[in-house]
Amino acid sequence: DRHHHHHHKLKDIRHSSDDDLLLPYTKSHGPSHSHRYVRDCQPVAHGTVTHETQAASKHSNSPVLESNIFISDITDDSGTHRWVSGHITEVHDPLRSVSVLEPGGPGGCAHNHRELVEVTAKTRKCLVAQNGGYFDTHTGQCLGNIISDGKLVRNSGGIQNAQFGIRKDGTLVFGYLSEDDILDQENPFVQLISGVVWLLRKGEIYINESIQAECDKTQETGNFRHFVDVISARTAVGHDKEGKLILFHVDGQTDVRGMNLWQVAKFLKDQNVMNAINLDGGGSATYVLNGSLASYPSDHCNPSKWRCPRAISTVLCIHER
Ligand SMILES: *[C@@H]1O[C@H](CO)[C@@H](O)[C@H](O)[C@H]1NC(C)=O
Ligand SMILES: *[C@@H]1O[C@H](CO)[C@@H](O)[C@H](O)[C@H]1NC(C)=O
Repeated sequence: DRHHHHHHKLKDIRHSSDDDLLLPYTKSHGPSHSHRYVRDCQPVAHGTVTHETQAASKHSNSPVLESNIFISDITDDSGTHRWVSGHITEVHDPLRSVSVLEPGGPGGCAHNHRELVEVTAKTRKCLVAQNGGYFDTHTGQCLGNIISDGKLVRNSGGIQNAQFGIRKDGTLVFGYLSEDDILDQENPFVQLISGVVWLLRKGEIYINESIQAECDKTQETGNFRHFVDVISARTAVGHDKEGKLILFHVDGQTDVRGMNLWQVAKFLKDQNVMNAINLDGGGSATYVLNGSLASYPSDHCNPSKWRCPRAISTVLCIHER
C-alpha cells in the first residue's frame, strides 16, 4: 500500500550500501610492527621523536569556529584539471571545543555501533561534525586508539598509524605514538583518534615516510599506494602555526571525483597547515553543519540511484566551549 511504501522509502534514506569503500589495508587494519621500528626508520633529522606537538590556541573571545567552503581547480600529474569542493573549518579554542565522539554516544564502540554523523552530532550538539577514525565495515568495530572526553575507549596496543590527540594542558599532538605515550598519566590525552597517513609534518609533505611507517608487508604496498594515489572523498585534521585546529573535508567518489592524498597534503600546506593526518574517506567522508548534512556522499542508497550518508564509527565534533 502507498503508506507503507512511503515509510519504506524513508527508512532507505538511512542506509547507504557501503559501495564506495576506500580501505588502506586488505586484511586486518594497521601495520604489525612496533613503535621502535617506526622510530628507527624515520629520517634522522627527526632524531628519536616520532610526533610533533603544538600548544593549542585559546582565543576565548572569538567565535568557536570559522567554517569555509572551497571550490578549487586541482591539476593532477598528467595536467588534467578537475574541480573539487569541500570545507575547511578553523577552530579557535580546540581544548575546550573539540571532542572525539563514539558512534551514537558514550558506549557506542563497546557495542560495535555504527551511526550517521548527523545522529552522533546531536548527542553533543556539535556545530560542525565530521567522520573520524576507521572501523571494520563488516563488524562495525571501532579501530585504532580512541580517547573521548578523557575516557580511554580503545587502546589498540601501540598500533603505528598516524594519530591526532589533545592533552589535558591543551597540547595538540600529531604523529606516531607508543602505547606508553597513549597511557601517559602525567599529562594525559583528553581526546585521541587514529588516522592512516601523516600528511604533513612540520609543514612538509610526509607521505613517503608514512608509507614506510604504516605499511609493513611488501605484498600490501601496492594496495596501500593505491589508497594514497587514488582520487576520492577525503577528510583530514591538522593545525596551523597559531595552534588553531583545522578540519578538512572534500567531496568525491573513489576513482571518479575528489583528491588523492598528495593533493590533500599540498592543499593543506598551501593553507599554512603545519601538521595533518588523514582520516577515513570514500563513502565515510561526511560534513555536518549545525546538525544537518552539508556534504555530498558518494555511497548509493540501498537500493536506489540516490546517494546516502554512511553510518560510520567515531566523530570529530566541534561544540560550544
Ligand atoms: C616519494 O617517493 C617517490 C619514489 O617512490 C619519489 O619519486 C618522490 O619524489 C617522493 N616524493 C617526495 C615528496 O619525497
Ligand atoms: C548554526 O547555529 C547557530 C546557533 O543556532 C547559529 O548562530 C549559526 O548562525 C548557525 N550557523 C549556520 C551556518 O547555519
